[in-house]
Amino acid sequence: MHMPTPTFHIHHLPIYGDTVLSPMAAYSDVPFRAICRQFGAALHYTEFVPTEALIGDPNPLWRRLDVHPAGEQPMVFQIFGNDAQQILLAAQRIEAWGADIIDINLGCSVPKVSEKGAGVGMMRQPKLVAETFRLLSRHLRVPVTGKLRLGWDEASQNYLEIAQIMVDNGAALVALHGRTRSQKYRGQADWDAIAKLKQSVNVPVLGNGDVRTVADIDRLKAHTGCDGVMIGRAALGNPWLLGRIDREQLTLGKLRPFSATTSTKRSATTAPPTACKTSTAT
Ligand SMILES: Cc1cc2nc3c(=O)[nH]c(=O)nc-3n(C[C@H](O)[C@H](O)[C@H](O)COP(=O)(O)O)c2cc1C
Repeated sequence: MHMPTPTFHIHHLPIYGDTVLSPMAAYSDVPFRAICRQFGAALHYTEFVPTEALIGDPNPLWRRLDVHPAGEQPMVFQIFGNDAQQILLAAQRIEAWGADIIDINLGCSVPKVSEKGAGVGMMRQPKLVAETFRLLSRHLRVPVTGKLRLGWDEASQNYLEIAQIMVDNGAALVALHGRTRSQKYRGQADWDAIAKLKQSVNVPVLGNGDVRTVADIDRLKAHTGCDGVMIGRAALGNPWLLGRIDREQLTLGKLRPFSATTSTKRSATTAPPTACKTSTAT
């Protein structure tokens, strides 16, 4: 029997394929992830969730961590916060909910997140980064990863330093969006930076930013040597890209309707964390 060869590993977890659906708040929910996975995504992330929403009582944000009852493994749960102990508490809680990997967001540029020291605001606090990854890698069973930007602004591009701190403290993968906080989504993503990161760390790297076509997937890989290519905006309305099909190549046969399946619903009002665990999602 032919056994497929993993493209890379996140700690002990084999990943088959090199296209990854970006975490996208308000978009990367269960149905969209399921469609992207069906069309070829090797890995995908939940929308990000603030740690304070996870350590308190049930609330609607818990829904972001719903998982499809079949076929979402490996599943990355993404969280953000500005306090290492709180991040650990939240991560320990959601580890039991079906996370195969827990990812820390060090890239969100929205002021209400970054200016409170979370998201890309963490990149200005190397000690917090070290403490967070040290605690999580010591106390969780699942691998811990992080997604970052180049830095706070043009003058403070410290992604190499921060990525090294993450890895030295147990991060099993680093994803880099090649823009600074001040660029937000403007300008061009810096693929040279992704190449430098790949050269400097000994864990898999996901390159991210401005991948819109199949040719871009191949160009980013060739340019940087990255292990996987993370695709965000270009996947919206175009999940075929995750399966390396450009819109122009689509035939009527490939536009077959997606069969609806149910997700595992995490009640935002009643279910205790242990009741949320799905049998197939870990
Ligand atoms: C609507 C939207 C929501 C996003 N939400 C998240 C998020 O929750 N977590 C995260 O790490 N990045 C988030 N991002 C950033 C993307 O994951 C990605 O890094 C960025 O869009 C660059 O990739 P792209 O050029 O392929 O879109 C978001 C981006 C968009 C456009």
